[in-house]
Amino acid sequence: AATVRHEAETAPTVCGGLVEANHAGHSGSGFCNSDNAVGAAVEFRVNAAAAGPATLTFGYANGATESRPGEVLVNGTVVGTSQFGATGAWTSWASQTVTAQLNAGTNTVRLRATGAGGLANVDYLDA
Ligand code: GCU
Ligand code: CA
Repeated sequence: AATVRHEAETAPTVCGGLVEANHAGHSGSGFCNSDNAVGAAVEFRVNAAAAGPATLTFGYANGATESRPGEVLVNGTVVGTSQFGATGAWTSWASQTVTAQLNAGTNTVRLRATGAGGLANVDYLDA
């Protein structure tokens, strides 16, 4: 199916922190600056025409020196983890990909921080 961009700053996506736009280079009108805490999350709603595997690509920036690891939950189940390593600056944007099975219809895709730093700044999910 065609890839749809889900901006982290656009409803019905939930940003567990602040929607901001103070670091240039992001897609759309901003990004989600999550709280700096374990469990901080961004949740997207992804519609799939049919059940099957999907590529989930998260756009992010991490201007800190440490990775900002997170786990990806689809419909409440952890389906993968990703490191979201340092990108060198908050204005340097990169992407990381996880593959997961989606249901037909509406799915929730949640990216949840597993480290005390919270998530990297999250720009979008392509799915
Ligand atoms: C800085 C930066 C934020 C980022 C934060 C963090 O404050 O401006 O965009 O989210 O660091 O460390 O998480
Ligand atoms: Ca943050």
